[in-house]
Amino acid sequence: MTDLKTTGQQLGRRSWAEPWKIKMVEPLFMSTPEQRRAAMEAAGYNTFLLKSEDVYIDLLTDSGTSAMSDRQWAGMMLGDEAYAGSRNFYRLEAAIQQYYGYKYIVPTHQGRGAENLISQAAIKRGQYVPGNMYFTTTRLHQELAGGIFVDVIIDEAHDSTHPHPFKGNVDLDKVQALIDRVGAANIAYISLAGTVNMAGGQPVSMANVRALRALCDQHGIRIYLDATRMVENAFFIQEREEGYADKPIAAILKEFCAYTDGAWMSAKKDNLVNIGGWLALNHEDVFEAARNMVVVYEGLHTYGGMAGRDMEALAIGIEECVEDQHIRSRIGQVRYLGELIEQWGIPIVQPIGGHAIFLDARAFYPHLAQIDFPAQTLAAELYLDGGVRAMERGIVSAGRDPETGDHRYPKLELTRLTIPRRVYTQSHMDVVAESVKAVYDRRAETRGLTMTYEPQYLRFFQCRFAPK
Ligand code: F0G
Repeated sequence: MTDLKTTGQQLGRRSWAEPWKIKMVEPLFMSTPEQRRAAMEAAGYNTFLLKSEDVYIDLLTDSGTSAMSDRQWAGMMLGDEAYAGSRNFYRLEAAIQQYYGYKYIVPTHQGRGAENLISQAAIKRGQYVPGNMYFTTTRLHQELAGGIFVDVIIDEAHDSTHPHPFKGNVDLDKVQALIDRVGAANIAYISLAGTVNMAGGQPVSMANVRALRALCDQHGIRIYLDATRMVENAFFIQEREEGYADKPIAAILKEFCAYTDGAWMSAKKDNLVNIGGWLALNHEDVFEAARNMVVVYEGLHTYGGMAGRDMEALAIGIEECVEDQHIRSRIGQVRYLGELIEQWGIPIVQPIGGHAIFLDARAFYPHLAQIDFPAQTLAAELYLDGGVRAMERGIVSAGRDPETGDHRYPKLELTRLTIPRRVYTQSHMDVVAESVKAVYDRRAETRGLTMTYEPQYLRFFQCRFAPK
């Protein structure tokens, strides 16, 4: 293990050591290989269908899996559970206005609730929605509202080895080409994500959003931001973009948001809560429409599906997540895991992103075709090896083309090790890295999977597989 220690020192652990200590613990259980084999078969080789109690280290997602702080738990006791006008809503509204800078706030039960509202309010049937790579739920809501998603991310984002520091950037030439082809009136809005999940948690630069704003202003096109992991994006701007090294994360976040017309949020990520979401808007017309629809789909416009106590914990989570020390430690831990895996020559998406390590399953299993589901196979193998739960982000997640019904074959075929915030320790990261290494060492013997059941929507959540 000496090499692991060296890596920790090289990283300058002191600069990212956790700015908190542990007050309450939850026991973990380690299963036997036989138990894991049985659990994996029962789950149809889909890690989404495993029972959480059968998992040792759960890196399925960073969504809703954060540990709340003592302040947030104290806030839970201050829930005002009135049906209408809860005091916690006004606290939440003020926190979003202060840290993200938008005018009007609509609360929702989680991110996809907000995606539904913005898609229904801002897309007319047949309109195009250019975005910096798709996200599963985001694109589905855009398509259900009659929109046509068009990928306008820079080409480098589709190359897992490219070291571009802002791989989430929008290619302005692609946006211009779309405007020339279909006309600005046929573009609903730009769907811009801060740190692009499916590209490996890759950031957008301030220069890029500024230039995008200028282009959109020329054509009267609005920009809506998926702010789910925008705080992590702000960290990369502070680290990599000229002129931002001395600016606090909170200031960078607010400046970035100021170039956009509104945002939707899965508060289950950056905002450090287990459930919650919001939509924030600067224009009254879209706000009116969204506030009217929220009562149909989510709940009254002062709770949107959340309990009062959830909104209080969320308001406090917003304050905590923009602290520089917090975000440095969060991304420091992700990087620590990535650098351990990298030192063994195991292929991962470069540069290491904000919320996860993405194993490049194509390069990991060069003998498997994409239709053998290499990323799904890798996720299953990781679980079988040591009880670590990962998530497929490749051909299964990409789903089928609504026009042709064929599989979409994304360039990126990835398995995501997603790190919950403030939950696992550095020794857990060491264990995960060792498990990845063990699976890598026996890669040549690994065969792929066949799909045996496929649901209609967001198939990756519920589909089933069998070994080839
Ligand atoms: N946008 C992004 C970028 C997301 O990553 C997610 C969720 C959503 C929107 C939807 O939010 O889950 O609260 O409804 N991503 C999770 C993940 C599920 O594991 O990446 P939600």
